Formats: sequence, structure tokens, C-alpha cells
Amino acid sequence: MAETPAELALETLKTLIFTVYYLLEAFILLFIPWSWRMKDITEDTVLVTGAGSGIGRLMAIKFAKKGAKLVLWDINETAIEETATEIKKYGGRVFTYKCDLSKRDEIYTVAEKVKQDGLDVTILVNNAGIVTGKKYLDCPDNMIEKTMAVNSMAHFWTVKAFLPSMLRKNHGHIVSIASSAGLVGVTGLADYCASKFAAVGFDESLKYELNAMGKDGVHTTVVCPYYINTGMFEGVKTRFPKVLPIVNQDYAASRIVDAVLINQEIVYIPRVLYFFLALKGLLPFHLTRLICEFMGNQTFMDTFRGRAKQN
Ligand SMILES: NC(=O)c1ccc[n+]([C@@H]2O[C@H](COP(=O)([O-])OP(=O)(O)OC[C@H]3O[C@@H](n4cnc5c(N)ncnc54)[C@H](O)[C@@H]3O)[C@@H](O)[C@H]2O)c1
Repeated sequence: MAETPAELALETLKTLIFTVYYLLEAFILLFIPWSWRMKDITEDTVLVTGAGSGIGRLMAIKFAKKGAKLVLWDINETAIEETATEIKKYGGRVFTYKCDLSKRDEIYTVAEKVKQDGLDVTILVNNAGIVTGKKYLDCPDNMIEKTMAVNSMAHFWTVKAFLPSMLRKNHGHIVSIASSAGLVGVTGLADYCASKFAAVGFDESLKYELNAMGKDGVHTTVVCPYYINTGMFEGVKTRFPKVLPIVNQDYAASRIVDAVLINQEIVYIPRVLYFFLALKGLLPFHLTRLICEFMGNQTFMDTFRGRAKQN
């Protein structure tokens, strides 16, 4: 049935009232310490993909220290066992599964195994990622496909496997580790940027869908960090480290875990990225490109070496 003028007026009023409410809420929250707002996760089971290295390993350890049960996935079995050993050192509860996240069938099979083992995942952290690090025309087709598969398609399959149980209980959290390369294009990262833009888009649509379903107990967090010193982007240099520093991996992992604990929806690391993204939305494209060029966006990847071996 068509909307009446009275209904439209009511909806407009409601939107205006909520606009003021949300702005006030955001302002007040600035003064409330995060530690007061953190949720208890001692009854939660956290699944971290790509937990064998970098921020995946660090986040897993930090979640375990907060008392959660951990489920670790990685293609590298030895590496996740090392992460598990770290967690067990202080009595953390942890379960490891080898899984190649570029393969949909394998994701569904391993997810089923996790459920059969009696593990009810309530916090899913889609963290595993790879980078080709070549100019677009030099990217082998199979690496473009694999980058899309691991960095974005895997999110679809893991969420499909674990979201239904979260919805039934109206309790859960989906975390997408994307990248600043999911907000702004970078020369030499076409496949990586496309995969991360996809991860950002998936998270945003999921947020709206969950809201439309009224599932206020299932949260989402998308994380867009600038380069982090894990080794994944070994060799990359930042032109203005005072403005856009290479992020310390321990800081990044802590920042992400804290964001999950306060149900923060969007996290850019470092904060100056919020400013750059606002500029991107406001300025004419040629000016945005000029600023990106000045910041080093065209040359970041010239010194890229990456890890010796890609999965
Ligand atoms: N390092 C950075 O500069 C940076 C910046 C922004 C975003 N990120 C993102 O953060 C996430 C973690 O990055 P990191 O720097 O800790 O990387 P990392 O290379 O240290 O860790 C990635 C992990 O993913 C695993 N992995 C790779 N392919 C896999 C596959 N097919 N199946 C299962 N596991 C697989 C690896 O074995 C490894 O343990 C990634 O999604 C990355 O894109 C990283």
C-alpha cells in the first residue's frame, strides 16, 4: 500500500529525533572509559582464521586472556599449534583445525567438524589474508582468484556456517579484518584492494541485514588498518611516518580486541584514516588522486618484498 503523507511525516520526525539521539550518544561515549563498556566473553567461543601468524595469533592470545574458548584455523598446521601452545601456557582453552580458506567445500567441512566437536562459535574473526603484491597486469590469474577467495569469499562461507546459530540465540559477533586498501585504491594492489573492498561491502550489507532482522544481539565489526609490521607487507615504506605510521602489530591486535569487546562497528587504524576517508567523499577525484600521490600511494609497493613463501 502507498505511504500516506502522515506516515511520511511521522517517519521524518522519527529520523530527526534519532539523528539527535545518535549524535548525543556518540558525544557522551567519548567520555566513558572503554573498560566500563567491555562485554564479558568468558562464556564465548572465538574462532580466529589465519591464527598461525601476525595479528591473527596475537588476537587469539588476547581473546584467550580475556577468558574465551579459542578455535584456531589456518592452512599452516605447525603455526596454529605454536599459537595454541602459547595459549595453553596460561591455561587457555584452545582447539586447532587445519583449513584452507581458499576452498569453500573445505571451509564447510571443517565448520561441521567444529560443531560436531561441541564447539558453538559465538565470535567469528575473519582474519586470514594473502597479498600478491604485483602490478595488475603482472598478477598471475591464479593469485588474483586466490586473493579474492581467501580475503573475501571465505568470509561468505564462514559466516554462512556460523551465523545461523548466532541468530537463533540472538548472541554473536562477526569480525571482518579488511584493510585501508578496502577504502582507497593503491597502485600495485589491484587484486588485494578489490578483495578488501569486497570484505568492507559484505560487512556493511550484513550490518543492515541484521538490523532489519531486529537481531540486536549479533554484532559486527569491520577493521581497516594501514600497513602493520607483521611481515605480510615486508619492505613497504610509508612516506610520512608521523602522519601515517606503519602500525605496530601488538597495538593493532589490542585495538581490535578492545573494539570487539565494546561492540564498535567500524575501526580504522590509525585514526587519521577517518579524516582521509572523509576527504575522499568530499573532494573532486583529481584532487583525491593528487593527495594520494603526495602521501606515497603510487610508490608504497615499489619496495615490497612480502613473505618469502605465500600460501
Ligand atoms: N600486515 C598488514 O600490513 C595488514 C594491513 C591491513 C590489513 N591486514 C590484514 O590483516 C589480516 C592479517 O594480516 P597479517 O599481517 O597478520 O598476516 P600474516 O601473513 O602474518 O597472517 C596471515 C595468516 O593467514 C594464513 N593464511 C593465508 N592463506 C590462508 C589460507 N588459504 N587458508 C588458511 N589460512 C591462510 C597464514 O598462514 C597466516 O597464518 C589479513 O587479512 C591482512 O590482509 C594486514
